[in-house]
Amino acid sequence: MYTVAPVPTIPELIERIVDAGSGSTAFFEYELKEDGLFLQQNPAEFAEFVHYMASSVPPSNLTLDIGIASGGQTKFLRDYYACQKTIVVDLGQHPDAYNWPRIRKSLNSDLILEIFDDSHAPAVRDSLLPFRGEIDFAYVDGDHSYIGLRQDIFLVREILKPGAFMALHDTLAVEDCKRVYDELKASTTFDHVMDFNHRFGISLWQLREPVASTQENRTSGLGDL
Ligand SMILES: C[S@@+](CC[C@H](N)C(=O)[O-])C[C@H]1O[C@@H](n2cnc3c(N)ncnc32)[C@H](O)[C@@H]1O
Repeated sequence: MYTVAPVPTIPELIERIVDAGSGSTAFFEYELKEDGLFLQQNPAEFAEFVHYMASSVPPSNLTLDIGIASGGQTKFLRDYYACQKTIVVDLGQHPDAYNWPRIRKSLNSDLILEIFDDSHAPAVRDSLLPFRGEIDFAYVDGDHSYIGLRQDIFLVREILKPGAFMALHDTLAVEDCKRVYDELKASTTFDHVMDFNHRFGISLWQLREPVASTQENRTSGLGDL
């Protein structure tokens, strides 16, 4: 049983994020620390997001992260938001990926599956389908192209539980992700829960009911979300 720290205030979370270190001092505007988490997150919006998850979203049994880079964000969230089990998917080629073997040792969750492959590959879907209907929360921060993000959402929407939550990163700053965000606002599959917007944008959604994706959805990324 994984337990979490009491929910800190948002200013305390900001301090802890900055203390954990970013992936680039120049780009993220807080220090990169060699033994840190290499976070690719804006402190204010990530703090607000973590605070909301920890204080307003029911704890998760099974969670999925698509796009982990160093895995720092995967770890930080789980220190405060209870996630008993975790699955991660990443190409594994990010320059900060070498930190994951170190960071995963302190992951406050049971890492039941690590997939180092393209999230759009049929083999990845095949590995995730056995968990269909069991996943409570997905953090999607992988392919940031319009089609690539849509393909990830087509994957996620069929394997999440009814009522599960999905967070998308960069829905403010990356034009393609913003376009998907605008389309999701009109979706009858997901309800928009909240935005945490300071620089990159984290948006949170709730799945009404899972919807099977078609071969066309999965390969072209097109179709109603
Ligand atoms: C922006 S980084 C993730 C940052 C991380 N979530 C954080 O906040 O620290 C994007 C990650 O997505 C991964 N990625 C991109 N396209 C992918 C794909 N098609 N399948 C799996 N992973 C992908 C990259 O390898 C990279 O590690």
